[in-house]
Amino acid sequence: MKTTIAKIGQHVGEEVTIGAWLANKRSSGKIAFLQLRDGTGFIQGVVVKEDVGEELFQTAKNITQESSLYVKGIVRKEERAPSGYELTVTGVEIIHAAVDYPITPKEHGTDFLMDHRHLWLRSKRQHAIMKIRNEIIRATYEFFNENGFVKVDPPILTGSAPEGTSELFHTKYFDEDAYLSQSGQLYMEAAAMALGRVFSFGPTFRAEKSKTRRHLIEFWMIEPEMAFVEFEENLEVQEQYVAYNVQSVVKNCSIELKTLGRDVSKLERIKAPFPRITYDDAIKFLQEKGFDDIEWGDDFGAPHETAIAENYDMPVFITHYPTSLKPFYMEPDPTRDDVVLCADLIAPEGYGEIIGGSQRVHDPELLKQRLDDHQLSLDAYQWYLDLRKYGSVPHSGFGLGLERTVAWISGVEHVRETIPFPRLLNRLYP
Ligand code: 4AD
Ligand code: MG
Repeated sequence: MKTTIAKIGQHVGEEVTIGAWLANKRSSGKIAFLQLRDGTGFIQGVVVKEDVGEELFQTAKNITQESSLYVKGIVRKEERAPSGYELTVTGVEIIHAAVDYPITPKEHGTDFLMDHRHLWLRSKRQHAIMKIRNEIIRATYEFFNENGFVKVDPPILTGSAPEGTSELFHTKYFDEDAYLSQSGQLYMEAAAMALGRVFSFGPTFRAEKSKTRRHLIEFWMIEPEMAFVEFEENLEVQEQYVAYNVQSVVKNCSIELKTLGRDVSKLERIKAPFPRITYDDAIKFLQEKGFDDIEWGDDFGAPHETAIAENYDMPVFITHYPTSLKPFYMEPDPTRDDVVLCADLIAPEGYGEIIGGSQRVHDPELLKQRLDDHQLSLDAYQWYLDLRKYGSVPHSGFGLGLERTVAWISGVEHVRETIPFPRLLNRLYP
């Protein structure tokens, strides 16, 4: 019976065959332990010389790391194994013998591992992170589909710059100039006027010369946009969505969280509502804490965000930032025009901003003024202004950075491990 490691629990006591790679092994004169992986999971195969005979025992003992195999064995329950099962090996067929696999069980430096990312992905830790990433994507589709959102795919090649012109990837589009998408938001606003509640999930490009543990050049963003939704309701959707992601991972990725050594109690308590603090109060708090380099009107750096987040064991919204710090499309606070109806969501444990969102300007004249203030050409944004010309409504949305969210939930220090092939300031290989 052919099966996979993930499904092996359905075959206790039976003889099964799995296709697998040898992740690691150890052996003595009488018994060999094969650490097998097949993509769906990890399991230990036990080869007992007395039971299998000399020839098979020698074959098993000499398998090299990352060789591909068909392994036959009898499934046994094993409480101490992470997967809960073990395989008593009865046969091994080597499909391809790997020679000198470069990533050995000893410690390797980060650069070496990043140069071998195409192989590093096979490791138990990377496997766990990719499974958690997948679970968040799955939960995202589930959450938005169950809440009446329609998935819409904005273009990747664009002619406009929603988040400011300094971080654009430029390319030629035949005779025109084009940019790789730095946010699908403006297109999602058009989609929200057609479909009410929409969300996107796609690659995002920022030619930002930042070299921090939170920055990628290419990352994936989830961008919901909602017609007839104002500031407060926008935050409610965000906290429900983020809590849903966290609880889905807790429920469906317990083996992976264990592999990563994640403190699950810190995740279990993540439930809506999340605390909120205004930008004004955050500045006051930081000044009282002794950050004397910061004053009203300054943007927060990583140390500031971490200091604020440390007050809570939940993600925290920082709301009502100064207009001058934020993009042109954010709706001003009706009670004062020096701040906008926006919020950044800061993850706990020093992971920083995972969401940026706001209510959008829906008054056509104000929007023209704002484009002008930001020296953006009205021509390029004509279609966007049309949304305010024909049945304009209050609307709001946000963008969640997938990799920062994966890093936080997985408890992984650096975003470079949370995407299969990271694009970093100095890295386009592999
Ligand atoms: O705050 P940002 O720039 O917001 C927008 O792009 C809005 N247009 C979204 C919207 O309202 N539809 O980016 C949103 C999120 C950040 O909070 C962060 O999680 C992630 O995207 N992000 C990055 N992640 C990794 N590397 C980078 N260089 C990132 N820049 C932003
Ligand atoms: Mg932001």
